[in-house]
Amino acid sequence: MSAGLILALPRGRILAEVMPLLRRAGIEPEPAFEDPDSRRLRFSTSEPLLELIRVRSFDVATFVAFGAAELGIAGNDVLMEFDFSEIYAPLDLDIGHCRLMVAARAEAAEPEDPRRWSHVRVATKYPEATRRHFARKGVQAECIKLNGAIELAPRLGLCRHIVDLVDTGETLRANGLVEIEEIARVSARLIVNRPALKTRPEEIGCWIERFRRAVGAPRG
Ligand code: PRP
Repeated sequence: MSAGLILALPRGRILAEVMPLLRRAGIEPEPAFEDPDSRRLRFSTSEPLLELIRVRSFDVATFVAFGAAELGIAGNDVLMEFDFSEIYAPLDLDIGHCRLMVAARAEAAEPEDPRRWSHVRVATKYPEATRRHFARKGVQAECIKLNGAIELAPRLGLCRHIVDLVDTGETLRANGLVEIEEIARVSARLIVNRPALKTRPEEIGCWIERFRRAVGAPRG
């Protein structure tokens, strides 16, 4: 008997959009998965050969890249940051839409012309994507890695600019920041460990197809 597959899911706000998609794909997690008090991290589903794990969004990519999970759901923001060759991203899930943006304090934004910068200091969760973005424009970005609450950094003098995800724009506004430029449009992707796809093409191919149909199915 072959072992089951593991699907790595990101924690946080995105989960509210992931759950209906899972259900459209015919996956019903055991009740503990949606219990906010549960400290468990690994869950069975209505599919005997599919388990779920719940990890931080960046760690979804790590688990899948190393084959600890065969499947995962991760934003292209995460994929841009790591550029793991072992990850194949066959399907845009059309959820988790937001933008990866450069932002700065409203007072500083008026004279900002990114084409004139030669050096910027940027607080971000995305140092690699940030450096690459600025390097393409001939600007050297000194990145300060933070893991959350990035929007605090300019006000407290850590930097002038941040690079972070923007959805409604509320977090920027609440912290006196404005959008300067867009680095990328973001949405969640189904990701697959490439070696697992080679060794278990039928099982994994079947899940890719089930998610493809779930993306196209009417949202109730
Ligand atoms: C994300 C992101 C921004 C915020 C943007 O943070 O890092 O801070 O959402 O959303 P908005 O434009 O709708 O305000 P999240 O809430 O996921 O928490 P984090 O700071 O731990 O990343």
